[in-house]
Amino acid sequence: MKAKQAERLLKLPIYVFAQLDKIKAEMAAKGADLIDLGMGNPDIPPPPEIIETLVKSLQNPENHRYPSFEGAPEFKAAVAGWCRRQYNISVDPDHEVVTLIGSKEGVVHFAFAYIDPGDITLVPMPAYPAHFRGTILAGGEPVVLPTTEHRGYVPDLKIIDPDIARKAKMMILSYPSNPTGAVADRSFFEAAVAFCKKYDIILVHDFAYAEIYFDGQKPLSMLAIPGAKDICIEFHTTSKTFGMPGWRCGFAVGNRDLIESLRKIKTNLDYGLFTAVQKSAIAAMTLDEKEYIGRVRATYQRRRDVLVDGLNSLGWQIKKPAASLYVWLPVPQGYDSTEFTMRLIEKTGVVVSPGIAFGELGEGYIRAALVAPEARISEGIERLRQAGIRYDG
Ligand SMILES: Cc1ncc(COP(=O)(O)O)c(C=O)c1O
Repeated sequence: MKAKQAERLLKLPIYVFAQLDKIKAEMAAKGADLIDLGMGNPDIPPPPEIIETLVKSLQNPENHRYPSFEGAPEFKAAVAGWCRRQYNISVDPDHEVVTLIGSKEGVVHFAFAYIDPGDITLVPMPAYPAHFRGTILAGGEPVVLPTTEHRGYVPDLKIIDPDIARKAKMMILSYPSNPTGAVADRSFFEAAVAFCKKYDIILVHDFAYAEIYFDGQKPLSMLAIPGAKDICIEFHTTSKTFGMPGWRCGFAVGNRDLIESLRKIKTNLDYGLFTAVQKSAIAAMTLDEKEYIGRVRATYQRRRDVLVDGLNSLGWQIKKPAASLYVWLPVPQGYDSTEFTMRLIEKTGVVVSPGIAFGELGEGYIRAALVAPEARISEGIERLRQAGIRYDG
């Protein structure tokens, strides 16, 4: 085929995961027993109640018709109730909620609602790739806000060039963070809201890991900051909270103009979220919080402890992340992140993600996701020990 791809596709950085997938497939075909901590793909199944709700909903022919674009009134009401109970924020279900086919879809399409060619989005890096790829696809320019371990992976807003700030249209924050596991405190969120108001910047907060936190330290919704709703849209998902990544269910809440613009984009692109999935998500959001999510958090926390303690016994000096599904660790000297990832797979069958996948400032690191049982994580550590893989600086 001679046709040249559109510039917006050609401008995207290489998709490192494609290379990784190829090697994984080759190793699996040779019978390798892979311990896959590569993708943040939750392995804890959803609560049985919501599967029962799905099965029941599938039996009603009405639910197989096109759903409403923006979400059923019951779904939006359940979202408003969930947001009030979980984050102490109030959203109007009629004007401040929209359903999404997963939060990735929402975050990327939101860029299309506001970013014109040449527009600037401020993005902390390392970052979840959709945070900068959405802007690139829309023809805009992501401007990187570097984050480092030293500052807790939170950008320093004071060093942003005022000329850039004046030109910026959007800022995308996401705490708890993928890939670093960092959380941000109230004072940073207050500063971010004040900064975006000062420069008239749309504040996007991707809150995908809202419920995956450890040691009882609950992360804050950006919308809990007074005045945030004037400028902020926040993205949520059932993928991580309820172990439903394959169901493709999320929602956005926040400023009504921002929600309306996203809804307008989406009415031109999709037909909303399958009604049977909406019904199941309603069941999920009205479950007894402590029972299911409490167990999920405790499971991920135990896995985090096994992984971090194990790595530290091999010379790393990693602090336990406060939240998210990830452990972010430096690669030993002599390798870049892709080389070390490939070495790990080939020598031990342990799959991780190379830091370069999260932008150039992710180079020098790898990310391991807590998506395998504790026993498999321990086995992975043992395989590293046997292969002589250590961190000595
Ligand atoms: C920060 C962040 N946002 C969004 C997503 C995607 O979630 P969803 O399944 O809702 O599209 C992920 C998935 O890993 C993520 O890490």
